[in-house]
Amino acid sequence: MDLDTVKERAGPREFGPGDDMPEEYRKAATRMIQFHANSEIMGAYLEKPFIRQSPSLDRKLAFSAKTQDEIGHGQLLYRAAESLGVKTREQMLDELAAGEGKFLNCFHYPMTEWQETPMIAFFVDGAAMRRQATLKRTSWEPYAHAMDKICFEEGFHIKHGEDIMRELATGSKRGQELLQEAFEEWWPRILQFFGPTDDDSTHHDFSADVGLKRMGNDELRQAFLNAYIPKAEKYGLEIPEKPRIVEEDGTYEVIEEDLDWEEFFTVAKNEYPSGREQINGRKEAQEAVAWVRKSLDDWEHAGTAGASTQRAAD
Ligand SMILES: [Fe+2]
Ligand SMILES: [Fe+2]
Repeated sequence: MDLDTVKERAGPREFGPGDDMPEEYRKAATRMIQFHANSEIMGAYLEKPFIRQSPSLDRKLAFSAKTQDEIGHGQLLYRAAESLGVKTREQMLDELAAGEGKFLNCFHYPMTEWQETPMIAFFVDGAAMRRQATLKRTSWEPYAHAMDKICFEEGFHIKHGEDIMRELATGSKRGQELLQEAFEEWWPRILQFFGPTDDDSTHHDFSADVGLKRMGNDELRQAFLNAYIPKAEKYGLEIPEKPRIVEEDGTYEVIEEDLDWEEFFTVAKNEYPSGREQINGRKEAQEAVAWVRKSLDDWEHAGTAGASTQRAAD
């Protein structure tokens, strides 16, 4: 299929592995889905410690389920990316461990305190939901198909994040202060979730033309702000003065120049110090379970399990 035909036909779930897609499309879709898959995995790594650190059994169970969901989302997405025939799942996981795989800016920052957890489980997952809901109508069918299950589970993640936030917001004065501090620290990162304005986004036009992206960064950020600023205020959070937010008739807009785009692009290039640590953690885990992959390969090829030394990944 030539590119003009792709652009003409580019409707929701229009193309699949049975179609002869041009290389440009297959590469753009792989880049987009691989980024998404990597982000699911790296987000799960941030939340994993809270399976142990959660203050109650219910919270532990919820964190355990959520972390497994996110790893599952990664798996579904690597498979959807693989269906484009550009890279294998193994290649993509190796690239991530080698620091060559890109992932969401928010997951490059450390998360160590309990009050930070709703910043991801409520705000970041809420922002992700905005984008993901539009991807149910992406033109690569296997990607849209994965999104059906992912969006369903993200709905639960946001409720889980909101419940932790509600508990902190309605608890002790100290809890409320800690929540506000966490919010102030994470808010600029959350605002950068959708990336730079479409004018500065290198891949936007092509992805939109071929139906991979259904909404631009600006539109998504706008929709997120309109929905989540009132929610933050409902839980007593004060929106920081910087970056400036302008409100007009219940519609919010952020002054983009107030955000630190130099830091954003350092993060995006995997050069931010805490992000590098996160990537190294992923590399170590990948190496620690090399014996599992080897055993499975040996079993598949010879019908016997390998005799490698066994070690847990955690
Ligand atoms: Fe997810
Ligand atoms: Fe999630």
